[in-house]
Amino acid sequence: MKFFIDTANLKQIEEAQSLGVLDGVTTNPSLMAKEGITGNNNILKHYVDICNLVDGDVSAEVIATDYAGIIREGEQLASLHPQIVVKVPMIKDGVKAIRYFHENGIKTNCTLVFSAGQALLAAKAGATYVSPFIGRLDDVSTDGLQLIEDIRTIYDNYGYETEILAASIRHNMHVIECAKLGADVMTGPLSVILSLLNHPLTDIGLAKFLADHQKASKS
Ligand code: G3P
Repeated sequence: MKFFIDTANLKQIEEAQSLGVLDGVTTNPSLMAKEGITGNNNILKHYVDICNLVDGDVSAEVIATDYAGIIREGEQLASLHPQIVVKVPMIKDGVKAIRYFHENGIKTNCTLVFSAGQALLAAKAGATYVSPFIGRLDDVSTDGLQLIEDIRTIYDNYGYETEILAASIRHNMHVIECAKLGADVMTGPLSVILSLLNHPLTDIGLAKFLADHQKASKS
């Protein structure tokens, strides 16, 4: 399973990268705004800064919602750096644009996916990644993990190569369940990635090993 970090915060991206388990980054307009990045040039520069910190794919989202605008913005984003993946919303013009990008060798991440039908359309259009938002589905009392399972079944039935990028991950059980269901990628905040480290028995065990070593070295 690939691990992406879902943030535009350079410090957090650096910290995740330094762990040695990071495969990429996802951003969205809300995450960029959270970092106070405004103005087209600053936004474009920030994407390049992110690409220079990590080795893998970096999703950069278009703001346009019409076909011509999505193509224009997507081509500009893709020309910034070879690691850029153009993030396109699941709307009619978005699906058309994903097909165009696919035919022109530009990687895409189809975002704001909340149903198996949307995921099927994204795969048929040739999306590189599809991003089902499982946490936001859970928020409205709908089983986000069931969607991951349904998409996995559909993609496997037909051999679609689109990677399932489980997004809107809120806690470490989301990661584990997505891994069990065969999601190709998970994207989550640094806190969720780090939470995978934790187990009280590890802490207790390590404290005992160190104490025993200390005792033995005194005797
Ligand atoms: O980047 C898209 C997705 O991961 C957003 O997550 O927590 O805002 O629902 P969240």
